[in-house]
Amino acid sequence: MTDMRRFLVAGNWKMNGYEARNRELCDGILAGLAAAEDVDVLVCPPYPFLASVNGLVRDSRVRLGAQNVSEHESGAYTGEVSAAMLKDVGCTYVIVGHSERRTLFGETDDQVAAKFRAALDADLTPILCVGETLEEREAMETEAVISRQIAAVVAATGIDAFASAVIAYEPVWAIGTGLVATPEQAQDVHNHIRGLLAAENADVAAGVQILYGGSMKGDNASGLLGMPDIDGGLIGGASLKSADFLAIVEAAAGL
Ligand code: 13P
Repeated sequence: MTDMRRFLVAGNWKMNGYEARNRELCDGILAGLAAAEDVDVLVCPPYPFLASVNGLVRDSRVRLGAQNVSEHESGAYTGEVSAAMLKDVGCTYVIVGHSERRTLFGETDDQVAAKFRAALDADLTPILCVGETLEEREAMETEAVISRQIAAVVAATGIDAFASAVIAYEPVWAIGTGLVATPEQAQDVHNHIRGLLAAENADVAAGVQILYGGSMKGDNASGLLGMPDIDGGLIGGASLKSADFLAIVEAAAGL
């Protein structure tokens, strides 16, 4: 991170949680936050819990985000949730293009770009996830894959949209596997992403927060967050226990 960007530590709860457990988790996070005032903190629960979690965190500085959004505005799209609805229940952020959505639910680069646009149109901050598979890394395609994923969104929205967005680099091989990218591996990709944006607009590139995601934990967070282009974390497993999540928030606060 540099002085011009704040750290953002975001919990992606994925398909986990229920009311009582969410309350315990949020209470724990809120109780431990005082020591980390300079770090932005975000929780992204499943859709059914957004309103109740909003009730738990809205008087604090913990922000609320969703894990997915429809690219459509409203109407006959059974099972879908619009960006305006997310805004209405208290969200300020939404994750788009998580690799689990891309691989398990077939989301394309163009669809992810449309979701990114829909989020911005509703005044939500999109967190655009990008990342390569192990196969792609081994084939030396990491930079090409990331470039393609970013270019699809830049083409659809223009570079200025990234002034109101967050990017998360999540190598697919590091998600939920316990395999974590080394700080140098992650920094190389973060630097590549910032370079792609800088080619279009240097100011936007310098301001955008780029998070790392993939088996980030309290004991590896400092090394990753200490790299110049890593501005926070998108946390899966370690966001489900307040002590584990706070350990990452505290690592960010200590840098
Ligand atoms: P893990 O932290 O469980 O590896 O998940 C990362 C992730 O996918 C966050 O979006």
